[in-house]
Amino acid sequence: MLEPVLQMSGVAVVRDGSTMLADVDWTIRDGERWVVLGPNGAGKSTLLHVAGASLFPSRGTVELLGERFGAADLGELRTRVGLSSSSLGDRIPPHEKALDVIVTAAYGVVGRWSERYDPADVARAQDLLGRMGLRAFADRRFGTLSEGERKRVLLARALMTDPELLLLDEPAAGLDLGAREALLRLLTRLAQDDDAPPTVLVTHHVEEVPVGTTHALLLSRGRSIASGPVTEVLTGPLLSRAFGLPLVVEGREGRYTARAAAL
Ligand SMILES: Nc1ncnc2c1ncn2[C@@H]1O[C@H](COP(=O)(O)OP(=O)(O)OP(=O)(O)O)[C@@H](O)[C@H]1O
Ligand SMILES: [Mg+2]
Repeated sequence: MLEPVLQMSGVAVVRDGSTMLADVDWTIRDGERWVVLGPNGAGKSTLLHVAGASLFPSRGTVELLGERFGAADLGELRTRVGLSSSSLGDRIPPHEKALDVIVTAAYGVVGRWSERYDPADVARAQDLLGRMGLRAFADRRFGTLSEGERKRVLLARALMTDPELLLLDEPAAGLDLGAREALLRLLTRLAQDDDAPPTVLVTHHVEEVPVGTTHALLLSRGRSIASGPVTEVLTGPLLSRAFGLPLVVEGREGRYTARAAAL
C-alpha cells in the first residue's frame, strides 16, 4: 500500500497550560476526502495547523508527505500543502484584485501585486477562477466580493500551487443557502476528480459535508472520539457524544442532516 499522506501518532498541543489537542492518532491516504467535525473550541483549527506544518505539536509524531516533523524543514513542507481559512481571508487587503489573490499563492504571499508574474501562473489562476464560476471577476477587488465569492476565490488560491494535500477550514461558514450549495457542488466535483489531492474539510455542520466525502473524524475537547469511513462515523450516537447533546442524524444520497432528538 502507498505510504500515507499524513500520519499523526499521539499528537498533543498544549499552550499556556491549556490542552488544545490530546493524543490524536490520524492517518490520511491518497484519494481520501475527510471531514473533521466538532463543536467550537474542539481543536479543529489546531489540528489543521499541525496537518499543514504551521504548528509543531507539543507531543507525538507527525509524518507529512513522507517527511517527519523534527527532521524536515517545515517551511518547505508547508509550501506543498494548500490551506484555505477565514483567517487567511482576513489578511488579504480589500483592494487586491481577485486574480492577484490567486496568483500570489504561487509566490507564497498576499497583498503583493508588483511581482512579475509568469504568464503560465496567470493562465492557471484564470482557469481556476473559471472553474469556480468566477471568470468575470478577475479584476474585482477582494473587498467588494460577497462572502460566497470570497470563499470560492480562497479555494482557487489554495489550489493554485497544485498542493499534495488540501486543507479547508470552514469553507462554507457564513454562506447563504444558495452560496453554500454552489460551494458544495464545487467541492463534490473536486472530490470526484482523480487528480485532486487528498482533502480535509473542517466544519461544525453535517449539512456542509460534500457528496464524495469518504472519511470523517470527530473531535471533542481536543480528543478524537471517532475516525473512519464517513457512514460509520456520522451517526446519531457518535455525533451526540461529540456535540454533547442527543442528536438524530440522517444520511441520504451522500448528504447529511442533524437535529436535536425529541425529549
Ligand atoms: N494560544 C492559545 N493558548 C491557549 N489556548 C488556545 C490558544 N489558541 C487557541 N486556544 C484554545 O484551544 C482550543 C481549540 O481551539 P481551535 O481554534 O483549534 O478550536 P476549533 O475547533 O477550531 O473551534 P471553532 O469551531 O470555534 O473554530 C480552544 O479552546 C481555544 O480557546
Ligand atoms: Mg476553528
